Amino acid sequence: MDIRLLHPSDIPHVQHANITNLPENYFMKYYLYHALSWPQLSFVAVDVSRPKKTPYDYPRIVGYVLAKMEEDPPDGVQHGHITSLSVMRTHRRLGIAEKLMRQSQRAMVETFGAQYVSLHVRVSNNAALRLYRDTLGFKNEKVEAKYYADGEDAYSMKLDLGFVREQIMDELDEGDLDEGEPVGELGKLEDREKDKKAVVTKDGKKRKVRVGRGLGVGDLVEKNESQKA
Ligand code: ACO
Repeated sequence: MDIRLLHPSDIPHVQHANITNLPENYFMKYYLYHALSWPQLSFVAVDVSRPKKTPYDYPRIVGYVLAKMEEDPPDGVQHGHITSLSVMRTHRRLGIAEKLMRQSQRAMVETFGAQYVSLHVRVSNNAALRLYRDTLGFKNEKVEAKYYADGEDAYSMKLDLGFVREQIMDELDEGDLDEGEPVGELGKLEDREKDKKAVVTKDGKKRKVRVGRGLGVGDLVEKNESQKA
């Protein structure tokens, strides 16, 4: 099983999975809006056990999570929202939904600094409730009466993402140890000089600029490809 980011070309297959598994369905443009606005947050599970026979075979998408950032959070707190999650019947109870959710939660923190993630779920949806509450640790915020088109109530649920932030910080700390020497070499003049490369600036003058990871983009000068050095 391959869990990867949702590509716009996956959308018809995700829409198919959504229609198969849930009564809450969306126009194609709504999926596209998610994929283009928050490309880091939605994931698909692809069954790769049967390899493609031709390059034109489409990927076998057996699960997806469609997620976004709340655009105008009423509480003013930056947070993510799970719009839709489902896994095909043939592939349930394999931990796919849990993995999709955890990937998306992590991306919400890494990319957008989300403080928490929210979602709605039908009060009768025991499988999803077990997943959200018992496996992932979501808490019930409130019941939203008649939230769904057929009149069923929804639980509005929320998960604080502080623990994901801590996990990421821990991983970064471990990463630093692996590198041995501290990476604060930027202050050393000889290293700064070594990192410099000659480029031609917009006004046609030759200049040495620093390049490389960790230097940010502020000091870099655009290279003029149309003029010879
Ligand atoms: N009964 C009881 N507990 C369950 C069930 C179930 N049918 N399914 C999942 N869980 C709980 C279990 O604790 C499970 O851990 P375990 O298998 O070790 O006991 C845990 O959730 C993780 O399960 P996963 O294998 O990751 O879940 P799965 O991949 O099967 O997907 C899902 C669960 C998404 C709810 C699936 O049943 C489904 O697609 N249902 C129909 C669509 C749906 O209801 N989507 C959620 C709507 S809400 C929304 O979209 C925001």
